[in-house]
Amino acid sequence: MTTQFTLNGSTVSVEPYAGERLSETLRERVGARDVKIGCNAGDCGACTVLVDGAPVCACLMPAHQAAGRSVETLGGLAKTDLDALRLAESFQNHGAAQCGICTPGMIVSAVALLREESTPSETQVQDALGGVLCRCTGYRKIIDAVIAAGSTDIPDLTMGHAGEGIRRLDGAGKVAGTEAFGDDVAPQGTLEVLVIRSPFPRAGFQFGDLDAFAQSPGIEAVLTSADIPGRNVFGVIPDFADQPVFAEDETRFRGEAVAAIVGTPEAVRAFDPSQFPVTWEERPASQTVHEAMAENAAQLHADRAGNVMCGGFVQCGDAKAALADADVTVEGNFRSGFVEHGYIEPEAGFAEIVNGRVEIHACTQAPVMDLDAMEIILGMPRELIRIIPTGVGGGFGSKLDLSVQPFLALGALKTGKPVRLTYSRTESMQSTTKRHPSDITLRIGATKEGKIKGFDFFGYFNTGAYASWGPTVANRVPVHASGPYQITDYRAESQGIHTHCPPAGAFRGFGVPQSAIAQESLFDELADKLGIDPLEFRIRNSLENHVPTVCGQVFEQGVGIKSCFEALKSAWDSERTDATAFNAENGTFKRGVGLAGGWYGCGNTSLPNPSTIKSGIRKDGTVVLHQGAMDIGQGANTVISQIYATALGIPVHQLKIVGPDTDVTPDAGKTSASRQTYVSGSAARLSGNAMRTQILAQVNAGADATLDISAGQIKITDQDTAHTIDLATLSADDEGYVLLSQETYDPPTKPLDENGQGIPYAQFGYAAHLVVVEIDTKLGTVKPLKFVAAHDVGKAINPMLVEGQVQGGIAQGLGMTLMEEYIPGRTENLHDYLIPTMGDMPPVETVIIEEPDAHGPYGAKGLGEHVLIPTAPAILNAIKNACGVRLTQVPATPSRVRAAIKDKNNGK
Ligand code: FES
Ligand code: FES
Repeated sequence: MTTQFTLNGSTVSVEPYAGERLSETLRERVGARDVKIGCNAGDCGACTVLVDGAPVCACLMPAHQAAGRSVETLGGLAKTDLDALRLAESFQNHGAAQCGICTPGMIVSAVALLREESTPSETQVQDALGGVLCRCTGYRKIIDAVIAAGSTDIPDLTMGHAGEGIRRLDGAGKVAGTEAFGDDVAPQGTLEVLVIRSPFPRAGFQFGDLDAFAQSPGIEAVLTSADIPGRNVFGVIPDFADQPVFAEDETRFRGEAVAAIVGTPEAVRAFDPSQFPVTWEERPASQTVHEAMAENAAQLHADRAGNVMCGGFVQCGDAKAALADADVTVEGNFRSGFVEHGYIEPEAGFAEIVNGRVEIHACTQAPVMDLDAMEIILGMPRELIRIIPTGVGGGFGSKLDLSVQPFLALGALKTGKPVRLTYSRTESMQSTTKRHPSDITLRIGATKEGKIKGFDFFGYFNTGAYASWGPTVANRVPVHASGPYQITDYRAESQGIHTHCPPAGAFRGFGVPQSAIAQESLFDELADKLGIDPLEFRIRNSLENHVPTVCGQVFEQGVGIKSCFEALKSAWDSERTDATAFNAENGTFKRGVGLAGGWYGCGNTSLPNPSTIKSGIRKDGTVVLHQGAMDIGQGANTVISQIYATALGIPVHQLKIVGPDTDVTPDAGKTSASRQTYVSGSAARLSGNAMRTQILAQVNAGADATLDISAGQIKITDQDTAHTIDLATLSADDEGYVLLSQETYDPPTKPLDENGQGIPYAQFGYAAHLVVVEIDTKLGTVKPLKFVAAHDVGKAINPMLVEGQVQGGIAQGLGMTLMEEYIPGRTENLHDYLIPTMGDMPPVETVIIEEPDAHGPYGAKGLGEHVLIPTAPAILNAIKNACGVRLTQVPATPSRVRAAIKDKNNGK
């Protein structure tokens, strides 16, 4: 039936099928791909549009209900609506769009608010935008941007060099809804792939007549492991590659792929899973590390006895002897569950065959690693595969692993036609990696003067069915479990254990947030036992320059943890005084103040970790930066460009950026382990320096000369002497560059010996968080009221983006501490799995500390992971401070907090 409505002022006529969602109509029939889909269930708000001026979730509205009505989306509003234009500027000025996938929903909701109330309060903003989820920003900059809309000018263009908090260089598309994410690139009507997945954690299975099924109307192909031309295996760490694209014989987790169908959109929509010819035999499964280590537990991988994937170990001094000599000791067992990355963009992409090559467009954090993996799976020469990343609507570690890519490539190769695939929210949550659940036992001693004496750590990490980044977690945790402190007698061991759960992989911190919970909680217990102020206790034990870490590594400069703690001192004193006064007046509600520290080594642990950055200048004076570091919202496009422009000595806005594409950008490594600012940034600095040196050498100018590149010329002013290079006179290479510079940087690390001694990372970043919480002691609810976060970033290349990372990381740490727990089969959507909303996030005061690193570009250190490491223990310490109970399991849900308070009241 024809449905007619007004879309952004123009009349459109469509013929939706019965029950078609308005979101699908808008995206797939009239091309409004600025309307984003995060859940298709009314949970995320990404699809928010205005219908007759009111915000609605387009995924919940049947298209026929739009008949005769006016529908407005960001794509239209951003062109003509004054409020939307003001919001777009304000979002950019405040850094309120990181990955940008939530931005259309946010701005559309804000337009509705501003039409009602031109000067909204914070509460009004929270009410109006509270239904839209953001996983990147921590919401505070969005609130600021909406309140300030219309009142902030567009900033003047500056040089945009290192240290300037300029707007994102790639922000315009995010606030206009034109950035193309994984589901936005396929033409309408493209064949779709649908993956058939195991309904059980462990199951045998047998296929029926797949050939007959493949003849069904609209079905173009059925894919199974038999269709894999290369090897049916992938994994991010080559020595541990163990995951099949399609399971063979037995599945190892609920949601594992066994087959896929490729068909027309109509056929895929009509597909009835019960008609697919597969029979299942459910088998006993291990869900926890202790079940998996039991004597009769099923072995997930034949060569990993006892389901032990691998372990990590660091030792210095004699921990046991020191503990025996310590004046006081504390110990505890700390547990955490699976945490879901919860990016708003589910995995998505598109593939096609172009001139005999397979081209894969997908959201990814690691295009060259994807290429490496696809070469093995497809058994094709590398030159015949091209990875063209789309915009990435959040990653946080999970989009380092393959997801849709092999299904897309196999579908395109088998049918010879373009194909697309977007995971449903449930499919995304079932099948992609998670944060490792942990089970940590820790004992720490101290002298009565308050110096650490003995530290003995053991942690089990549930790595799920496949290795993914589990070995990295196992190795990284013992290096970091000490925290940024001076500990001479130390032992830390970890083990990754396979279970029949989704693979646990990389998630902001690689196991360090879990170990920090144990260490920083027990530091408070130690300080308490010694009668020493917890902040003073930490300062007394803080790592310093010239003092060895637990791996025996000595930094001559750049150890900034003490400065971070000292920056919290005045807030620590005043907030505790205020909390004491509040508690004296209140019975049910209690306030507490907590703090914690953290550190994080940037880049791979003791492994080569290079990035390459290329730049070139064309005859017309265009300066092109081939920037292959994936920007997943954190700001790599902007920060790396700022570093390059600083080194070359030209304004950053003059750069033309060529983004990641395995055909045209050199390998800048993966966006992971907080390495891009440091490693790719260093490569960009080298490339900029080398280009500058080439230019100056042509006219024999001194190092301090200034450059002006424009209109086919480079003008060089060297003190009072002016030189000109006429670019048209230089010969161009195949890419049209008359000047070219390509440089590689690899951090100087050294392998760890059998005791974990060596140089695991060339640099660490440091952090300390303070939080004030209010607890309803009857209900067990915990409400953070304020954070103060001090971060040593070496050099803030872009202070606005630093703040954005800090706030976003704290929001994720808050979620991990208080509400997030992925339980396979139970919390597989954004309704049952809760992530922080705008109303959950209190103000954050960010304190930037700059203790320059010896290796980082202009002294800069990485930041992405550091920002949530201290958050959870700071909150747990604040809970203890407020009501006297020590939570040892996260999330600290109201039921757990209430039970702990009840136990304490009952004297348990
Ligand atoms: S896609 Fe509509 S609310 Fe999430
Ligand atoms: S910027 Fe909001 S989800 Fe990424």
